[in-house]
Amino acid sequence: MSNKIRIAVLVSGGGTNLQALIDAERSGKIKNGEIALVICNRKSAYAIERARNAGIRGEIVTRKAYGGQEGFEARMIELFEEEGIELIVLAGFLNILSGDFTDRYDHRIVNIHPSLIPAFSGEGFYGLTPHIAALERGVKVTGATVHFVNGVADGGEIIAQKAVDVLPGDTPEMLQRRVMEEAEWVILPAAVSMLCDRMTEERDRNNGCVQSTELQ
Ligand code: GRF
Repeated sequence: MSNKIRIAVLVSGGGTNLQALIDAERSGKIKNGEIALVICNRKSAYAIERARNAGIRGEIVTRKAYGGQEGFEARMIELFEEEGIELIVLAGFLNILSGDFTDRYDHRIVNIHPSLIPAFSGEGFYGLTPHIAALERGVKVTGATVHFVNGVADGGEIIAQKAVDVLPGDTPEMLQRRVMEEAEWVILPAAVSMLCDRMTEERDRNNGCVQSTELQ
């Protein structure tokens, strides 16, 4: 078995951020991590096809099939344990995880958010809403943020941010696309790569065991 950090990516939609991670792994930009599992909470999401096309285990896990949030999270934990998952990446994952779940994986879950947190973030800011709000407020710069996930929506420690210009005539869709192309697909793989490097170093130092406190 390889020595790489085993990553699970959680998705709900088109999966372009997942694709950016797959491409970064394939091209060697993520050296110390491998995507071992993709979990999708929507049956019809294209993201799951991307996983399967790349030969990665893809599982559909819905709240409905597991009787609510608790059963849904329990199933995910089971899959993480089965696959020896050490790092969890939320890449367009439309579900608010419970505090128990985020505490269990303290400094082990990261999320990509399409704004410069703390602007246009928190509950309700997903999909096009951060971009609509940015245009309404008239900001000249927006962007994306990678952050650790804790019990507060978009409230965890910031890992990476990249700014993107808002241009005259932008629609929310145009802005969303530019933020993805110029920021999300760049900083998410870079942050995952950096975390895997750090986790590998810590593991080597501790002879095979990573402590979550060392990532803080
Ligand atoms: C991205 O804008 C991401 O930041 C947000 O949802 C969108 C997901 O896109 N949270 P995709 O599924 O990765 O294509």
